[in-house]
Amino acid sequence: MARNTRHPLELETDHDGTSRRLAVLAIKTALRGTLQESVKRDYNALEDPEATDTLKTRNSYRLWSGINRASQNRMWQVLAAQADADYARIESEAAANRQRANGSVETATLRAVPEYQTRAAVHGQPGGYMLDRGNDDLAAGILYEAGGNLYAMGQGIGHRDSKGERLIRHIRERFPELEPVRILEMGCSAGGQSADYPVAFPDAECHAIDLSPGMLRYAHARSEALDSTVHFHQMDAGATRFPDAHFDLIVSHNLFHEVAAEHMPAIAAECHRLLKPGGVCLHQDVPIQTARLDGFMRFISEWQRDHNDEPFWTDFANADLPSMMREAGFDEDAVSEEYLKAIDGPIPWYVVTASRLA
Ligand SMILES: C[S@@+](CC[C@H](N)C(=O)[O-])C[C@H]1O[C@@H](n2cnc3c(N)ncnc32)[C@H](O)[C@@H]1O
Repeated sequence: MARNTRHPLELETDHDGTSRRLAVLAIKTALRGTLQESVKRDYNALEDPEATDTLKTRNSYRLWSGINRASQNRMWQVLAAQADADYARIESEAAANRQRANGSVETATLRAVPEYQTRAAVHGQPGGYMLDRGNDDLAAGILYEAGGNLYAMGQGIGHRDSKGERLIRHIRERFPELEPVRILEMGCSAGGQSADYPVAFPDAECHAIDLSPGMLRYAHARSEALDSTVHFHQMDAGATRFPDAHFDLIVSHNLFHEVAAEHMPAIAAECHRLLKPGGVCLHQDVPIQTARLDGFMRFISEWQRDHNDEPFWTDFANADLPSMMREAGFDEDAVSEEYLKAIDGPIPWYVVTASRLA
């Protein structure tokens, strides 16, 4: 399904609300364009490319950094007000769609939330991913989907680009024989990709997990509204409660860059434990690997960590996921990494694939 597939739980707003969102988008577009270019000119003029502390004293950087942080705050302020105003309608849509009960959702089943998940309100989302105001609260999912869409447009990611749809195309090309009986998506958040898998693999039983109950409730109602059957569970991807060799296909979308480095190996080990012989896991994420970035983009990447509440961004950029998969038990030749051209927009997606040999 395309990113711009409509569904009744989406956060709606009026004319003024739309103008506020467009104002945020215009600022984010300028940040990515002319404002960032002027920082780059000053970076290129540095005598020593490592002297980025000097760059931080330049007006170009101060302007870009200040507006960048302010635009993120403004985005959440605008969307949080709209979520409050539209909450009752979304809640009743969610209740109506839950009645369909094709899929399911179970929350309050997690023994312990990994400590890192509460270390920051990632990219400034109000209340963080674990926001849960009781009464089957949906706010975390509402905010994540609306904020994610607006942020992505500001990054130049196309309206149609769905990471799920892109990965599914890749799976079909690379593993044409794969006919999964059970599929697991790890770190599903608001379910933006979860509804794609039952559509692509209608005979498979599809499961999706996340740590956040507010995301899972929203994701479940969203997927029911799209007539897609998914079973959502509150579980830690590093310690699920599924039996050994339970899945033929495991996927994740933008999960690893939001996991603390010390927890990543547990997720890799869990993938190895959960896959049947012949099964495959694919982890798609942002293309920020340090080795492929020039000095300027490394500087920008550090800004994400230091000023955009992305505490694990640079750890992920430096991580060697393929080696981690091998250390988890996957065979040397059964692990690979590549970049996939997005469906729509200039940003490629990074993918690490690991297969369990039959
Ligand atoms: C950037 S979001 C990914 C969103 C979604 N997959 C997408 O691409 O739109 C990362 C998600 O991973 C979840 N997460 C982080 N650590 C996790 C873990 N150990 N187990 C399960 N989910 C986790 C977070 O709660 C968050 O919802």
